[in-house]
Amino acid sequence: VWPDLGDPADIDYALVWMPEPGVLANLPALKAIFNLGAGVDHLLADPSLPKVPLARTVDPDMAMRMSEYVVFHVLLHHRQHLLYAAQQRRQQWQGHPQPAASEVRVGVMGLGSLGADAARKLSLLGFATAGWSRSEKSLAGIDCFHGTDGLKPFLNRTDILVVLLPATDRTKGIIDARLLSSLAQDGVLGGPVLINAGRGALQVEADIEAALDSGTLKAASLDVFEEEPLPPSSPLWHHPNVVVTPHNAADSGALPLCRGILEQIRTFESSGILRHLVDRQRGY
Ligand code: NAP
Ligand code: GLV
Repeated sequence: VWPDLGDPADIDYALVWMPEPGVLANLPALKAIFNLGAGVDHLLADPSLPKVPLARTVDPDMAMRMSEYVVFHVLLHHRQHLLYAAQQRRQQWQGHPQPAASEVRVGVMGLGSLGADAARKLSLLGFATAGWSRSEKSLAGIDCFHGTDGLKPFLNRTDILVVLLPATDRTKGIIDARLLSSLAQDGVLGGPVLINAGRGALQVEADIEAALDSGTLKAASLDVFEEEPLPPSSPLWHHPNVVVTPHNAADSGALPLCRGILEQIRTFESSGILRHLVDRQRGY
């Protein structure tokens, strides 16, 4: 267990989460790398990363946890909980009109192992659910958009935007002023909501803050940030319409993840086959 690795030449497989750059390059016998997480942006940022197969985590436990986070935050904004929590602090007894889930259009950016599961669960709750991905998809009950051409119509029909994209050269900074101003402004919630549990590098926080201040964005739930931990100076900590969580939307325990990886190693040793391989060119 790092940092006490013994003889580096004895190590066939590395199971890693955000290792220090250069550590893996010093393992001469390495056959494969297993990322103990879904996103591999930090690994691919290491120019010395060995060119052995790189597999990422795709795991039902992780998908379940992420969907819990997404469903919880969609419902929190849908049921106007920030407003009711503020009223409770003032001992104010006042109801507000509550739209039906079917009147609220949720859009999930990224329809991979996590986004597709969250979209399905939101659809089961009755939300008018759409998704956006790089390649064309067909998912029962989900209105699927894809590619550059699909982005604007997807955003234009979205009241609650859930971001579950990987951070790649093509997606970094995608949540900017332009994207936020393309979200639906005519929705029943009185303004669009952003939920980002993908990566902080996807978002331009200054643009999110400006959109919240101008009312272009009504509220946000953010699990990931440009800089983590979120610096004390960030206005996002104190914004009344922002929920901050410390990058733990889908914090899976090591054990369920390692079980899947041990299975992967057994199959790889017997047949040379590895699943969930990262395409380094694509960046995810
Ligand atoms: P995944 O299975 O690789 O899915 C990624 C999705 O994003 C795919 O649908 C992909 O489209 C889409 N995509 C990628 N680049 C795109 C582009 N340029 N334009 C449009 N769509 C694009 O990944 P996952 O397992 O669902 O995980 C998603 C991300 O969640 C991870 O990369 C990680 O950053 C984040 N995450 C966060 C936490 C947390 O605790 N906050 C936990 C786990 C994961 P295609 O389907 O067409 O390929
Ligand atoms: C967590 O952020 C992950 O990518 O698994």
